[in-house]
Amino acid sequence: MNLQPAMSLAELYSLTNRTFASLTFTDEPEGLFQPLDYCIKNGGKRIRPVLTLLSAHVFGAPVEKAINPAIGLELFHNFTLIHDDIMDNAPIRRGQPTVFTKWNTNTAILSGDALFAIAGEYMTRVDDIHLRPVLETFYKTVIDVCKGQQYDMDFEKQPLVSIEDYLEMIRLKTAVLPAACLKVGGIVASASEKNLQLIYEYGEHIGIAFQIRDDLLDVYGDTAKFGKMSGGDILAGKKTWLYLTALSLADKKQRQQLTEAYNGIISNNDERIAIVKRIFDELNIEHLARKKAEAYYQAAMLKVNEIDAPADRKNLLIEIAGQLLSREV
Ligand code: IPE
Ligand code: IPE
Ligand code: MG
Ligand code: MG
Ligand code: MG
Repeated sequence: MNLQPAMSLAELYSLTNRTFASLTFTDEPEGLFQPLDYCIKNGGKRIRPVLTLLSAHVFGAPVEKAINPAIGLELFHNFTLIHDDIMDNAPIRRGQPTVFTKWNTNTAILSGDALFAIAGEYMTRVDDIHLRPVLETFYKTVIDVCKGQQYDMDFEKQPLVSIEDYLEMIRLKTAVLPAACLKVGGIVASASEKNLQLIYEYGEHIGIAFQIRDDLLDVYGDTAKFGKMSGGDILAGKKTWLYLTALSLADKKQRQQLTEAYNGIISNNDERIAIVKRIFDELNIEHLARKKAEAYYQAAMLKVNEIDAPADRKNLLIEIAGQLLSREV
């Protein structure tokens, strides 16, 4: 293989951002498409399309080959967010009002549905020989994400959730999508089955670390930077790794205070968040969650070692995993 020098992550981000800057939703009726234009223009980190392009690059294909499915996967991600914000009753995302808050729930449902279909259409824009595996990967991922989202909501109502069940829930709701992005990039680059499996597993590990980091930022992040309401998971009663670990370490009094604050028995929201944070601090939860995310990062690194690709390109997988682990946004 006669490979060009490796691209940088900055180049991959810049290509992705240029692609999305030129993507507009101007079709009619406006009520259906304006929310989509709003959602896509509000940006986000664009991690998923970058992972798709990156994987194609790791396995030696021109990144242009992966651009349409990369767009499709990012649009699918944005669709999940539009619906997720209804389910989580979240007022802000990316520092702006969420679609269902700015318009209404019905609009968010229908615009989201349209976005899902548009995403699927982009997924078909690959070479014929790759069409079936790309679509199979995409639709399996869609179903997995729905499963994860349902578990996430079921767990809100369930007093006892094991850490194991939580980890499977976040694998489904969050980790399978970056994993699928990497796999799709690999498919369009005609990577071997073994490499596809390895890069998928790398993606699952970084995805789980990513969601634990997200749970952390939900409590400790700077709203102005993170762009989401601080303490939202606490008020929604989300069974996060932080909460479940705190419960397992709490003494009797802490456990009672924690469950009362979490279940809304205390009515003042600021007070609920403050109590939970105090108990998290007493139990050193922030540190433990960082360690847990790091362990998944390390597991991802083991997968990188096994992937058969040039070292300078595999380095990009190491670099992006590091960035995601320490993200503040
Ligand atoms: C948010 O994902 C949903 C989670 C899986 C935590 P991102 O943090 O990647 O969202 P954007 O696209 O950058 O806003
Ligand atoms: C994200 O979970 C999972 C999906 C959107 C599929 P969260 O509910 O934690 O994501 P944020 O925090 O709202 O972005
Ligand atoms: Mg959610
Ligand atoms: Mg949410
Ligand atoms: Mg979150």
